[in-house]
Amino acid sequence: MKPLRILALMHPELVPPDSLKGMTPQAAYEAKTEYDVVRTLRSIGHDVHPLGVQYELFPIRDAIDQLKPHIVFNLLEEFHGEVLFDQNVVSFLELLHTPYTGCNPRGMIISRGKALSKKLVAYHRIGVPDFAVFPMGRKVRRPPRLKFPLIVKSLIEHASVGIARASVVDSDEKLADRVQFIHERVGTDAIAEQFIEGRELYVSVLGNDRLAVFPTWELVAEKRAEGEPLIATAKVKHDVEYQLRHGIDTRAADLPDDLAAKLVHSAKRIYKILELTGYARLDFRLDSAGQFFFLEANPNPEIAEREEFAASARAAGVSYADLLQRIVSLGLRQQRLTES
Ligand SMILES: Nc1ncnc2c1ncn2[C@@H]1O[C@H](COP(=O)(O)OP(=O)(O)O)[C@@H](O)[C@H]1O
Ligand SMILES: [Mg+2]
Repeated sequence: MKPLRILALMHPELVPPDSLKGMTPQAAYEAKTEYDVVRTLRSIGHDVHPLGVQYELFPIRDAIDQLKPHIVFNLLEEFHGEVLFDQNVVSFLELLHTPYTGCNPRGMIISRGKALSKKLVAYHRIGVPDFAVFPMGRKVRRPPRLKFPLIVKSLIEHASVGIARASVVDSDEKLADRVQFIHERVGTDAIAEQFIEGRELYVSVLGNDRLAVFPTWELVAEKRAEGEPLIATAKVKHDVEYQLRHGIDTRAADLPDDLAAKLVHSAKRIYKILELTGYARLDFRLDSAGQFFFLEANPNPEIAEREEFAASARAAGVSYADLLQRIVSLGLRQQRLTES
């Protein structure tokens, strides 16, 4: 592909340095996505302009006016510190007729709601955990059909904000406490879901219309204590030392062929049901009876070279540079779809 001018939008604190040398392992870990994407796109000849944005839209419009990028590479996960505002930034790019990578705003809105996305998926008869929503300011009353153990989460946050070992509850008293914790400390409505004991699987999907699905990936905690449930808490996801101590890793999931095929089929259907485009990671739990349950869809998932999405693409023979190039090409094509 010809060299492109790419405006890369990211959080101002994550604008990458020229090198990660000299940083602590934790700091390098936190900066890796932006660093990997910018460096790799440059290595294949693109002219990449990183721009840190968070509170103002003007810098985006100014940069687009001046630079006239062929495409915006969207690495934003929040705006004004609000996770739900990333879709508004993408809508703004659409108003400016500027192509962008990753998911369209409708897909983001639909998939970010942990209740809404499950309702849509369940309607299509794909397994989801049973759940109930507990809005802020309302008394916690568990519907009798909803059985313990439950896991209590924020209805809209991601990156496991508010998720810890104490999120799994086995009594009405603990449920009420944890819902209150989400209301007060995270500041959002809460959702309590049937806790699916078992394996955690990630399916990476790429495409707008025709979809590529990469090999299913699995979260493992090799040094997990006997009886300790496997949960991707904030520490499991983001704390490098904790990951080392507990043997946290992700790798290709060893699954029976028929189950692997069913997962791929369901992942493609879910991607379409939730109107996703670009690239997304769909998360599932697999119980001991071999039943899988859809947990959530992550539009514009973590795309650092060493994390699940890129690792599973690589296992399918797609190099990191090729993966980023395909994400850019899909963004350019998506624009043509919305303009036609
Ligand atoms: N219903 C559930 N059953 C079992 N584990 C769950 C369930 N819901 C969430 N978890 C655990 O908590 C993690 C984070 O939950 P998730 O809904 O994906 O929130 P986030 O958007 O913060 O990633 C999951 O990756 C999984 O390990
Ligand atoms: Mg998740």
